[in-house]
Amino acid sequence: MTKSIPQSKRKARRVLLTRRALLILGGLALLHPILRFIGFHVPRKPLRVEVTQRLVPGKFFLSPQFILFATESKFWAVSRKCTHLGCTLNYNENEDILICPCHQSHFSKEGLVLHGPAQNPLKIYEVEKRESSPFFIVTM
Ligand code: FES
Repeated sequence: MTKSIPQSKRKARRVLLTRRALLILGGLALLHPILRFIGFHVPRKPLRVEVTQRLVPGKFFLSPQFILFATESKFWAVSRKCTHLGCTLNYNENEDILICPCHQSHFSKEGLVLHGPAQNPLKIYEVEKRESSPFFIVTM
């Protein structure tokens, strides 16, 4: 013998399930900003960028994410992302500095803050020098 559920109870159950589903979805939507607020982030896999251009000492290579500098003895890559609010930095060859077009922070080629409002130095990326193309691999 099957017992049928009255229409009103079915409707009440459907409303309850819908509310629970909305509550769970709302909770999940709030979870991400809460986790970011407390500083949790999923570590991302390092990005390796190949530079196929040779660099003579004293010159530089400009990519959208970094600037690769070369001297006689060393190579290094600094991020082009401003540490103030994230604008893309431009390199001024005449003054040998990186300048932010948004709020005019200045950074040295080594990534140090010369003039605010930025407070923190630029990220320095690991550079691997190779004898054949790609001549450099920058790990970001
Ligand atoms: S974003 Fe670069 S100084 Fe503000």
